[in-house]
Amino acid sequence: MLDREMDTSQRYSVSVLFTVCVVSIVGVSLLSGKFSDMVRFTSSLNSIQMNEFRTKVESDYQVRAIRSDRYGVGLYSNKLKNQTVIRKIGNLSREEELEQGLARARASIRIAAAVTNSGSNLSSAATHNDYDDYFPAGAVYRNPRSFYQSYMEMERRFNVYVYSEGDLPITHDGPCKNIYTIEGRFIQELEHRAKRFRTNDPSTAHVYFMPFSVTWMVKYLYKPLSYNVTPLRHFVSDYVRVVSLKYPFWNRTHGADHFMLACHDWGPHASQGNPLLYNTSIRVLCNANTSEGFNPRKDVSLPEIQLYDGNISPKLLSPPPENASRPHLAFFAGGVHGPIRPILLHHWKNQDNDILVYEYLPKGQDYYSFMLNSKFCLCPSGHEVASPRIVEAIYAECIPVILSDHYVLPFSDVLRWEAFSIQVEVSDIPRLKEVLRAVTEEKYRKLKQGLRVVRRHFVLNQPAKRFDVFHMILHSVWLRRLNMKLG
Ligand SMILES: *[C@@H]1O[C@H](CO)[C@@H](O)[C@H](O)[C@H]1NC(C)=O
Ligand SMILES: *[C@@H]1O[C@H](CO)[C@@H](O)[C@H](O)[C@H]1NC(C)=O
Ligand SMILES: *[C@@H]1O[C@H](CO)[C@@H](O)[C@H](O)[C@H]1NC(C)=O
Ligand SMILES: *[C@@H]1O[C@H](CO)[C@@H](O)[C@H](O)[C@H]1NC(C)=O
Ligand SMILES: *[C@@H]1O[C@H](CO)[C@@H](O)[C@H](O)[C@H]1NC(C)=O
Ligand SMILES: *[C@@H]1O[C@H](CO)[C@@H](O)[C@H](O)[C@H]1NC(C)=O
Ligand SMILES: *[C@@H]1O[C@H](CO)[C@@H](O)[C@H](O)[C@H]1NC(C)=O
Repeated sequence: MLDREMDTSQRYSVSVLFTVCVVSIVGVSLLSGKFSDMVRFTSSLNSIQMNEFRTKVESDYQVRAIRSDRYGVGLYSNKLKNQTVIRKIGNLSREEELEQGLARARASIRIAAAVTNSGSNLSSAATHNDYDDYFPAGAVYRNPRSFYQSYMEMERRFNVYVYSEGDLPITHDGPCKNIYTIEGRFIQELEHRAKRFRTNDPSTAHVYFMPFSVTWMVKYLYKPLSYNVTPLRHFVSDYVRVVSLKYPFWNRTHGADHFMLACHDWGPHASQGNPLLYNTSIRVLCNANTSEGFNPRKDVSLPEIQLYDGNISPKLLSPPPENASRPHLAFFAGGVHGPIRPILLHHWKNQDNDILVYEYLPKGQDYYSFMLNSKFCLCPSGHEVASPRIVEAIYAECIPVILSDHYVLPFSDVLRWEAFSIQVEVSDIPRLKEVLRAVTEEKYRKLKQGLRVVRRHFVLNQPAKRFDVFHMILHSVWLRRLNMKLG
């Protein structure tokens, strides 16, 4: 059941195209009585540490079936002294099966990570393969083999339970166009299409998703100009209370295996509605500001993708030819808000013919044409740390220049951002031209190649395709559940 051995074609034959965003709620009725024998963890931290500990023991000693006391560390300590004892006592519980599956996944990822370059041809770039047999390769990946193994293990095992509680419009739906597109598209994809990652039996889940939209909370609960986010916090607080009363899962881990997703700037504020959600659960946030409590060890940085009418602009659909000329050195146009843009505009607005910095684009000028005609695209934080410019720059193959403080970049546990972007300290903004001029032609070419490789990881497909942004987000959650860092 856990080690599903479906083949790839089976896995991907299930997608159905939905074109509208508002969808009906799938009702799932549950009998709470059958969960009564669930083990209570003493604390989520303990359980995580224990999982890690178990992985080590199991991979070192090939322990297969085990233990009368399910989470007894003592038993393992004894095993370390007597390596030959492998006893099978009764059948494994659901939780034990799940944990064993995860332990196997961790072990196989570690083995993949340990394989050296020699003897493997994976390092030869495989970026021209189509989606179905994509092999990550090249300098953009921290460790392409461990990522690939982790991704495959995710496809093989990962089970997400989506809570059915809550009504439209704030739950089970979200915006599917404009700047917070990713909220609605993720919820929609997970609830209605990503069947192979979803389970209707919560006792077989590795993680539990709370499908509310902070953007819709702002739309329906927030009083404009009040700057009062209390109604958002109340909604989140109520939601957690409902699921923690009705199901045993929240209490079991203090929310550590639960996740929420929000692209709205106020996602972090809304998540304060429940202290455990804020401090313990996996929060998937565009506003991944470490100064505002974002914790990269448990939280996930979500890319912000601006789709005006729900689709990528046709101009950005296919990359321009490799040798297309790019007359401008750098480009930015956007509102002056947040801590960094005023500095950028102060130094560069109307200052230079190579660094084009606008507050508003001159009438009749096309934003994307500027990106396509620039070598570097400046991506300063605004009201919040994330900027949709980063993904647009990736699509336009214009090297993103990240200008931000306290921002954890999306998928940075898998991707080496330095292989396809440039980070410039805010204090170096006055020297921006010097910094960009210092990038050699060779380095620039490599960065651009890197953009071509990572593009697939930032594309929103409908339905989702392997290795695209939906799957990368899910993979980030999977890694947090494994509680593992890729080499
Ligand atoms: C390991 O444990 C088993 C059963 O508890 C015992 O019979 C055996 O002698 C032990 N082996 C060693 C090497 O301690
Ligand atoms: C183990 O599970 C099998 C099939 O699920 C069942 O027939 C058997 O009685 C179970 N054994 C114990 C000890 O619970
Ligand atoms: C690697 O690729 C080369 C040719 O592309 C081939 O000759 C060699 O056998 C391959 N090595 C392995 C380990 O697959
Ligand atoms: C979870 O814990 C809360 C607070 O301790 C309690 O009120 C609630 O009944 C518990 N939920 C379940 C399903 O036992
Ligand atoms: C999170 O934990 C810290 C200390 O570990 C605590 O000070 C803080 O109040 C908690 N945050 C929330 C929102 O409860
Ligand atoms: C770009 O490359 C293509 C072939 O790849 C060639 O036909 C074209 O002339 C080149 N354009 C420039 C401006 O070098
Ligand atoms: C990040 O958080 C800090 C602390 O709240 C805040 O001062 C800063 O402005 C935030 N950064 C952005 C870009 O919003």
